[in-house]
Amino acid sequence: MRLENKVALISGGARGIGAATAKMFAQEGAKLVIGDVLEEEGRQIAKEIADGGGECLFVKLDVTSEADWEQAAGEVVSRFGRLDILVNNAGISARGNVEETSEAEWTRTMDINVKGVFLGSKQAISIMRTGGGGSIINISSGAGIAPQPGTSGAYAASKGAVRIFSKSTAIQYAVENIRCNSVHPGPIETDMLRATRPDENNLQTMMGRVPLGRFGRAEEIAYGVLYLASDESSFVTGSELVIDGGRTAQ
Ligand SMILES: NC(=O)c1ccc[n+]([C@@H]2O[C@H](COP(=O)([O-])OP(=O)(O)OC[C@H]3O[C@@H](n4cnc5c(N)ncnc54)[C@H](O)[C@@H]3O)[C@@H](O)[C@H]2O)c1
Repeated sequence: MRLENKVALISGGARGIGAATAKMFAQEGAKLVIGDVLEEEGRQIAKEIADGGGECLFVKLDVTSEADWEQAAGEVVSRFGRLDILVNNAGISARGNVEETSEAEWTRTMDINVKGVFLGSKQAISIMRTGGGGSIINISSGAGIAPQPGTSGAYAASKGAVRIFSKSTAIQYAVENIRCNSVHPGPIETDMLRATRPDENNLQTMMGRVPLGRFGRAEEIAYGVLYLASDESSFVTGSELVIDGGRTAQ
């Protein structure tokens, strides 16, 4: 198994890409803690994993709260004694062009998508150090490289920040064998995609910009995250893995 004896913490693990990643990690032998603001859904995912023979603990985690991250990190250490993998996956999308974006929406997007990644990394690094290294995977977006016309500027800016923060983390901690990479999904069939683009025409336009001609599946992102989490990527740090059906290649 590709993650045998490894312990992983995944934010936003209650649904979508985070839940698919958690299930794949469990199948590959990882022990897991998933954190989310969605308690019922998160507990259900943890139960499904446990019912399938995996080890998974759910913790209530609002990624904008340092106290929540401290508690989540404490749970990881008390339950498993180490942390090898952090997936900073929790995120929200935003809508509207620059003039339509309120200050509150800008701040909320930045708090969850950027501050959340910073706070999670800060907690994980100190635990990974004591274990001799680790792998941090930050879920950015294709929008963090090349936004589309309808992409919210707040969302694109937040994901661009995640991209460059990942490289900064990578070069700061390479000496301690802590790797950090970003993943850049294109449009993926999750609740987030439907919430951001409720209009069917809008979805079709978006799909039309994907050379492979379809939206991706959460598992197709999880496979990339799995590679970056495993020792197969031991020489990979500061890189960006684009999984987007060719959208940003144009
Ligand atoms: N779906 C896409 O098309 C797409 C494309 C590019 C990037 N992404 C990124 O992938 C990641 C996962 O998105 P998804 O599509 O699975 O979306 P999703 O909405 O299905 O899942 C996001 C999860 O994050 C959680 N979350 C939100 N705010 C939180 C907070 N403050 N604290 C803790 N958890 C919180 C949600 O409750 C949810 O479980 C996000 O970072 C998103 O920006 C998604």
